Amino acid sequence: MEIVASGIRSTGKLHLGNYFGAISNFVKMQHKNKCYFFIADYHTLTTHHNNKELHDNVRRVFVEYLAAGLDPEVANIYIQSDVPELCELYLLLNMSAYLGELERTTSFKDKARKQPDNVNAGLLTYPVLMAADILIHHAHKVPVGKDQEQNLEMTRKFVRRFNNMYGVKYFREPVAYNFGEELVKVPGLDGKGKMGKSENNGIFLSDDEKTIRKKVMSAVTDSGPQKPNSKMSEAVQNLFTILEIVSTNDTIEYFKEKYASCEIRYGDLKKQLAEDINKTIEPIREKIKEIDANNDFLIKTAKKGAEKARENAVNTIKEVREIIGIRNF
Ligand code: TYM
Repeated sequence: MEIVASGIRSTGKLHLGNYFGAISNFVKMQHKNKCYFFIADYHTLTTHHNNKELHDNVRRVFVEYLAAGLDPEVANIYIQSDVPELCELYLLLNMSAYLGELERTTSFKDKARKQPDNVNAGLLTYPVLMAADILIHHAHKVPVGKDQEQNLEMTRKFVRRFNNMYGVKYFREPVAYNFGEELVKVPGLDGKGKMGKSENNGIFLSDDEKTIRKKVMSAVTDSGPQKPNSKMSEAVQNLFTILEIVSTNDTIEYFKEKYASCEIRYGDLKKQLAEDINKTIEPIREKIKEIDANNDFLIKTAKKGAEKARENAVNTIKEVREIIGIRNF
């Protein structure tokens, strides 16, 4: 049995990228592994500073985690800030994380460009907090989307450094994981880049059928293939990538052939895509409503998850202190 840990920031509603990059793997892994799935609200503070929205967003992600199929009877589901030991591990790992390597990470450079007035230290040390999230449980498998690959590489680097520094084999190097083997990048509907909450190019797990259809029908395409077997533009390729995730093989083949023979009508492709996305989301959408109304269940589940997570966390901190040389009189 492997130890698995992964999280999602509490930036509000979850989208298809979160689902296929992360949560669908969480769901598949939870029965055969010891799993820790959390809501990374500390991480959210590196970009979002709206204290009025934070709590509601944490609750929202929590509800959607459960609605998407995470089972608190088998997986430990908790809120990151309910485990204060993480802050200590984060602090200790920060002592051997270097400015140069942190500044070079793509996500730091990206965020620094997007929010030049808020290039805070939390943003810089974001991968260190992620490492703490994983290492506090000694997790080996970390189900994530492709965009998190570099952060996992950083965690492995911190593990090697810690073990070398203290001459121990204490932490284990974790790996980014996906059931389909290749890490997934779900593209957005705007013709470029990945689906993301702040990009306004996504479909949310709570979107109703009409909204899904409207979003998909207005997705960016091009003027159509000009000759047989021509290369797809990025925008059209993106629609096919989503089709490959949500549709049956027959459907995918049908539209690929239509594209190759220049007979494709993007309107038909989009209609099918919207229908298949809706099929995937429908049961989750219904569950969101049901779980959202059950506050007692949420309170109980969060409490139980935090207790379980803290059992590990307290232990890890005790051992790390010992290794580092922090001892009681
Ligand atoms: P976040 O909140 O940006 O995204 C949560 C998860 O969803 C995946 N994801 C995607 N996968 C495929 N295609 C997309 N378009 C897409 N958009 C998002 C992400 O890869 C991620 O798996 N730093 C993390 C949260 C985190 C974490 C951790 C993850 C905090 N500590 C420890 C693993 C381990 C993040 O910002 O994810």
